[in-house]
Amino acid sequence: MIMIFMRRCLGFSLLCFLFLYPIIITILTPQTKTHAAAADLPLSTDSRWVVDQSGRRVKLACVNWVSHLDAVVAEGLSKQPMDVISKGIPSMGFNCVRFTWPLFLATNDSLASLTVRQSFQKLGLFESIAGIQANNPSIIDLPLIKAFQMVVGSLGDNNVMVILDNHISNPGWCCSNYDGNGFFGDKYFNPDVWITGLTKMATLFNGVSNVVGMSLRNELRGSRQNVNDWYRYMQKGAEAVHSANPNVLVILSGLSYDKELSFIHNQPVNLSFTGKLVFEVHWYGFTDGQAWAEGNPNQVCGNIVNNMMRTSGFLLDQGWPLFVSEFGVDLRGGNVNDNRYLNCFLGWAAEHDLDWAYWTIVGSYYLR
Ligand SMILES: *[C@@H]1O[C@H](CO)[C@@H](O)[C@H](O)[C@H]1NC(C)=O
Ligand SMILES: *[C@@H]1O[C@H](CO)[C@@H](O)[C@H](O)[C@H]1NC(C)=O
Repeated sequence: MIMIFMRRCLGFSLLCFLFLYPIIITILTPQTKTHAAAADLPLSTDSRWVVDQSGRRVKLACVNWVSHLDAVVAEGLSKQPMDVISKGIPSMGFNCVRFTWPLFLATNDSLASLTVRQSFQKLGLFESIAGIQANNPSIIDLPLIKAFQMVVGSLGDNNVMVILDNHISNPGWCCSNYDGNGFFGDKYFNPDVWITGLTKMATLFNGVSNVVGMSLRNELRGSRQNVNDWYRYMQKGAEAVHSANPNVLVILSGLSYDKELSFIHNQPVNLSFTGKLVFEVHWYGFTDGQAWAEGNPNQVCGNIVNNMMRTSGFLLDQGWPLFVSEFGVDLRGGNVNDNRYLNCFLGWAAEHDLDWAYWTIVGSYYLR
């Protein structure tokens, strides 16, 4: 999720969410909803489809749940009990959560062993401590990594599938070209540390059946990005995850903030395993600046969809599932650029019957 997009729905989140949300879900959800309860896990792929053990298609209808920010605690736990949130997710029609984590949660033991209380204390967030004490007292003195596992467990208890998304290295808001988290070799993005972290998370959740996928790295970007290193490290990361946990889908993001995968045209990914590879793509209104507000929406939609097909949509024809792991708008409805984009996006996503993850379930952040 890019820095420049200020989510303006904070104070009104519930209201605007309830307003637009049913429309989005109705358009994107297939007639026969496939909930995790019905899916025979683990998942795998069959050409461009994600399928369960009996070969039935499972459409990922996910929502992003943020846990990679400064406090490294899943957002919202100061507002509602974990189980209430987890139950709310399937009742709104989602069958899965893309759950974000910062790499250093897996590789820095002094971070992982901080308690939830200590983590908020360090940030001076005393109101959040009081809120968690009231709503989720059982996690307040747990280490951060245990609290993360508790959320995954709570989602599992409610038959919600989870995709673990390595969103960033250093806990905090993502993403910019200059945050040192953008590409292999950046200040906070040592490829070896990344492989170690992926391996640890894959191992930690091996045997946790509702963890169905791992998104290897969110929105690669910045001045260091290049195709050669993409293959070198993404293939290595994919192999590391698969050998630590062969049950999860391995989900690969492209370059330029997860917009650009056209290089796969010329060179397929070379992996030792089959039936587990998924690509992910992000698409927002602001991805194309103010094009929607300024242009003829029909023409803009035609141009941008052509571009989407060239840079990522072609993967469907090549026999790979394409997971739109982030999309979303200002739900208050006043942003013309967003509104026009959303009409076009929904048409594209429905036409191609894509798997998707809406940004976001979160109405406000502990620190933002
Ligand atoms: C590990 O985490 C601790 C606690 O947040 C932090 O103070 C320290 O700088 C981190 N170490 C590294 C190498 O990132
Ligand atoms: C694919 O990877 C294998 C194992 O690393 C290697 O032997 C093979 O040459 C690679 N194939 C291509 C086309 O790069």
